[in-house]
Amino acid sequence: MLRNTIKELSTTILNNQSDFDTIKNTIDEIHTHYLETTNIRDLGDGMQHMAAVPTASGMALSLNHAAACLLDYRRTAKFLDGMVTLIREKQQQHPNETINIFYAGCGPYAPFITLVAPLFKASEVQFSILEINASSIKMAEELINALELTEYVTAYHNADAVTFQIPDAKKYHILFSETLDALLYRESYVPILWNMLPQISDNCAVIPNNVIVQASLTYPQKEGEDTRKEKEAAVILDVREAVKVNDGTKSLPQSFEPITINLSGDEKYHTMIVDTKVHIHNDIWLHRNESSLSIPLEMEIVYPLEAPNVTFFYELKPSVELKLQN
Ligand SMILES: C[S@@+](CC[C@H](N)C(=O)[O-])C[C@H]1O[C@@H](n2cnc3c(N)ncnc32)[C@H](O)[C@@H]1O
Repeated sequence: MLRNTIKELSTTILNNQSDFDTIKNTIDEIHTHYLETTNIRDLGDGMQHMAAVPTASGMALSLNHAAACLLDYRRTAKFLDGMVTLIREKQQQHPNETINIFYAGCGPYAPFITLVAPLFKASEVQFSILEINASSIKMAEELINALELTEYVTAYHNADAVTFQIPDAKKYHILFSETLDALLYRESYVPILWNMLPQISDNCAVIPNNVIVQASLTYPQKEGEDTRKEKEAAVILDVREAVKVNDGTKSLPQSFEPITINLSGDEKYHTMIVDTKVHIHNDIWLHRNESSLSIPLEMEIVYPLEAPNVTFFYELKPSVELKLQN
């Protein structure tokens, strides 16, 4: 039974978190099974499967690009670890209750149900799935049925998570939404949390728990030093802090408060690095360069400075992206 094979492969990933080769080989094997089970390969490069889908704020990935996320190996392994750990914690906190999970943005492989559900009984975990891309949710449903995981799914919604009103929202123990890219570019994690956090219960845990966009400054490398020294300069955006102001009555702002970094002074720097620090759960983070989500942006600082101040702000309308002004 394919479900049991996936359960074994999932367990291998969980038991080998620090062994990249094992993680990669195991996820590649899962991918081969998913390719065989879905008709995704036959869809080829057809425009409709390559084109991003606009949401009320931000863009959602095409079916093909969303499928490819599975192969972001450390990302998939760490999110899987975070999700399974969190479900077990919730089971401790709520003994004998079914743990209800709202999965916003599942993509065609819905990995955080298809890799997670086989580790539990359907009486232990129930998923509600939301996805804006109609082809992706259709394929996810086909894969879930083929893996005989149908009984783990309470509901499918083909809708926009930025505006969706979650039915019976307070019943959820976990909200899962990996709808982000490095620098929180374009995808709708921030507007999704803005919309959904006020709807769910205060005790509902979120994965990823937070994303922090942070600027650091590096110093010119001195002779004899292996690496360049660096110091933290500023938190540009702490998503959970920024969305906290919405109690459910506020509409999404044009942008969040700007942050200015002043580069004048006696110290000379080499570059400014902007990191996307993804806090998945507990002590599980995606660190710099571990995943496509945590690729840093590095900018050279050229002296004499034309302008000593660099101002960053996260724009939500008309497009979703970090902007820089100097
Ligand atoms: C980065 S992919 C991740 C797919 C899968 N969950 C995974 O982790 O491999 C994000 C998925 O969320 C969907 N998505 C993005 N924004 C959305 C929105 N506003 N409403 C519903 N789905 C959205 C995209 O279509 C895409 O399938």
